[in-house]
Amino acid sequence: MIFILTGAGLSAESGLGTFRDKSGLWTEYDLKKVATPEGYAADPSTVLDFYNARRANAASAEPNAAHHALARLQAARETFIVTQNVDTLLDRAGATQVLHMHGRLDRVRCNKCGARWDAPEIMDPFDHCGQCGAQTVRPDVVWFGEMPHGLDKIEDKLTRASLFVAIGTSGTVYPAAGFVEMATAHGIPTLELNLEPSGGVFDEGHYGPATKVVPAWVNEITA
Ligand code: OAD
Repeated sequence: MIFILTGAGLSAESGLGTFRDKSGLWTEYDLKKVATPEGYAADPSTVLDFYNARRANAASAEPNAAHHALARLQAARETFIVTQNVDTLLDRAGATQVLHMHGRLDRVRCNKCGARWDAPEIMDPFDHCGQCGAQTVRPDVVWFGEMPHGLDKIEDKLTRASLFVAIGTSGTVYPAAGFVEMATAHGIPTLELNLEPSGGVFDEGHYGPATKVVPAWVNEITA
């Protein structure tokens, strides 16, 4: 089974900003203010405005050739895809059972009862939970200091993979940043597909824009 981890670079050519590149989101916004539980408690309007803008961008973006290539790979070979991206471009390209370890922009969660539902276009600090009535609803995304989703399943799949591939991620945010080391420790070959080397220790790397490098690699291994 091929284990794939994707990051913001996969969606960059669909027009969604990355976080740490030159004009990345974290150069424009203070992540402590917009991507932490403390930031949300202090100023929910600012945080919701940030995610409302991200949601609008993601909704108007289209999957690119790299998303489509990964969906094609999944149809041809046993492939487990974990994404750090909160967009749903992989799902919209036809990939199935994508594990969104950092949550999804198009979903809402109630902080009190845990109910989840589809996000409206615009979330408002006065929104209520349809299930318990609490006024503590939030985007269903994982913030810094919170536990990503699916870690047990990820570890199980990763340690049984025949190949680990990281695509379009800078490898700076843990636990995802540690997956390459975990794969290596289990003797699993590792491959990086990225615009440029991230600095992580991979057995092999193919560098260039995701829309070129990912389809070329998928064509190579499914030929
Ligand atoms: P980053 O912004 O940290 O890294 C993006 C990576 O994509 C970099 O290595 C770029 O070189 C590469 N890249 C940029 N354009 C590309 C292109 N066209 N083709 C291929 N690669 C390209 O984004 P992530 O690693 O995804 O978490 O960031 C990880 C997490 O940090 C995010 O999920 C988010 C963020 O803070 C939370 O908000 C919890």
